[in-house]
Amino acid sequence: MLAKKRWECAVLHLITYETKEEFLMKIKAIAAMDEGRVIGIKNSLPWDIPEDMRYFMRLTKGHSVLMGRKTFESTPLNSKPLPKRLNIVVTRSPEKYQERESLHFISDPIEFLEKCKSGEISLPSDELWVIGGSHLYEQTMPLWDEAHITLIKGRHEGDAYFPPFEDTFELVSKEEIEPCIFRHFKKK
Ligand SMILES: NC(=O)c1ccc[n+]([C@@H]2O[C@H](COP(=O)([O-])OP(=O)(O)OC[C@H]3O[C@@H](n4cnc5c(N)ncnc54)[C@H](OP(=O)(O)O)[C@@H]3O)[C@@H](O)[C@H]2O)c1
Repeated sequence: MLAKKRWECAVLHLITYETKEEFLMKIKAIAAMDEGRVIGIKNSLPWDIPEDMRYFMRLTKGHSVLMGRKTFESTPLNSKPLPKRLNIVVTRSPEKYQERESLHFISDPIEFLEKCKSGEISLPSDELWVIGGSHLYEQTMPLWDEAHITLIKGRHEGDAYFPPFEDTFELVSKEEIEPCIFRHFKKK
């Protein structure tokens, strides 16, 4: 109930859909993992790759981003919302955090995504991006329509990993820019 009430503050910039049939919210995930599936270490990224950061910024700009509380507090976010995006952070304790116009806290990611899909919750655009970390990827994967999973060449030390997704998603395109392979998958 609390999350629902809080969410009301977030829907200031609504797109009004005339009918439910018109409403086609896409849930997409974006991540960068290495050849050992590592995505993070000590609540930070294991690498600093400007091409990958630019790719992330380009794809998510103007849309909504959903992330776990640890990712929100991780480097490089450092508990700041990403600009030009509606930021939604998942935590079991949303009451501990201060909401802002572009920053909201919720406690049930699955209920939230299902309501976005059904049109019960409206967002500023028709794309919602799950941006990590491991826990959020793992829980929300069954609801993704697409995934942009960059493969970072090599192996890195890490303590956060990307879950297996290859059985349920198929590769539709890829582009290589050293040391990254930008890969776009769609649900099978
Ligand atoms: N390479 C990449 O593309 C990429 C992308 C994003 C993140 N990362 C890395 O991934 C690491 C963080 O990942 P992580 O898995 O440790 O943490 P995370 O998924 O970012 O956050 C976990 C937190 O989210 C909240 N949460 C998760 N599921 C929940 C649920 N069902 N209900 C309520 N709250 C829930 C909890 O917060 P509370 O404890 O507050 O309840 C939980 O402790 C960092 O190293 C980060 O740098 C990498």
